[in-house]
Amino acid sequence: MSEADFARIARIMATECGIILDTGKMPLVYSRLANRLRTLNIRTFRLYCAFVASEAGAAERRLMVEALTTNVTRFFREKHHFEHLRDKVLPGLIEEARQGGRVRLWSAGCSSGEEPYSIGLTLLDAMPDAPRFDIRILATDIDTQVLARGRAGLYPGSAVTLVDRRLRETFMRERPDDHGGSNWEVGPELRSLVAFKSANLVDGAWPMQGPFQVIFCRNVVIYFDIETRRRVLGKLAGLLSPGGHIYVGHAERLPAESADFRLVGLTAYQRAGPAPVRTGRGRNAADNVYQEHR
Ligand SMILES: C[S@@+](CC[C@H](N)C(=O)[O-])C[C@H]1O[C@@H](n2cnc3c(N)ncnc32)[C@H](O)[C@@H]1O
Repeated sequence: MSEADFARIARIMATECGIILDTGKMPLVYSRLANRLRTLNIRTFRLYCAFVASEAGAAERRLMVEALTTNVTRFFREKHHFEHLRDKVLPGLIEEARQGGRVRLWSAGCSSGEEPYSIGLTLLDAMPDAPRFDIRILATDIDTQVLARGRAGLYPGSAVTLVDRRLRETFMRERPDDHGGSNWEVGPELRSLVAFKSANLVDGAWPMQGPFQVIFCRNVVIYFDIETRRRVLGKLAGLLSPGGHIYVGHAERLPAESADFRLVGLTAYQRAGPAPVRTGRGRNAADNVYQEHR
């Protein structure tokens, strides 16, 4: 892979999904894409770049993006956010849902599901009958392969050690694997709370309209350039209802111009204004919080 090939790949990544690849990432890009070249029987990166940039290469462009995204995640990552959610945010939202209100939480850049399921477990712990109410979690990512893993909801035993044992045993099911160990599958209540959808955060038009009372967007925009970061976080913040909360990654900040937000915890922000008290279902114009891509 020449520097020119790498520069071309980096340009496509920046345009397609906002991710910035500096030259230090060259060995990583090489090792992740070498397989794609073998599968396609393409001999050189120069030919691969030409194919990926062409109209006929649209499907491969998507696979290239998926091969180059970083999907590292884990259950209850940055635990303090879930504690804040449990103690400061959910009590009000649960009351709203019990009064017939509509409550929406969004995990934007959800990877393989550990984050939205951690939100769901936190909610079920506080409200075991949540599935009976209009309270749901939207989980989106650009990478369809991690979304499939999220939908499957099956995790190795090593991944769920971070889940409180009582919660795990109540809302997940242990499934023996073929090697004498076990996997853990999300149970029906947890599954019913989370909807996985594909969405690209750098796309001009987002399929979700909001409003959301809670948004998690953690360790996603960190891979974008500063301007894209600012634009995406600003847009996310704009989809929060008054009084709503947004959690970002430990190294991320809301843009300075988001003046109606105040820091209420470690990388946790609240939008100004009281949370609206809603009664009755479906009276909000933005009820259809997510419309499928056509
Ligand atoms: C490092 S993971 C973070 C997962 C989770 N939020 C967490 O903190 O554990 C970043 C995720 O963002 C997704 N991603 C990257 N660029 C994206 C984009 N433009 N639109 C939507 N998702 C994107 C990646 O596919 C990946 O699954």
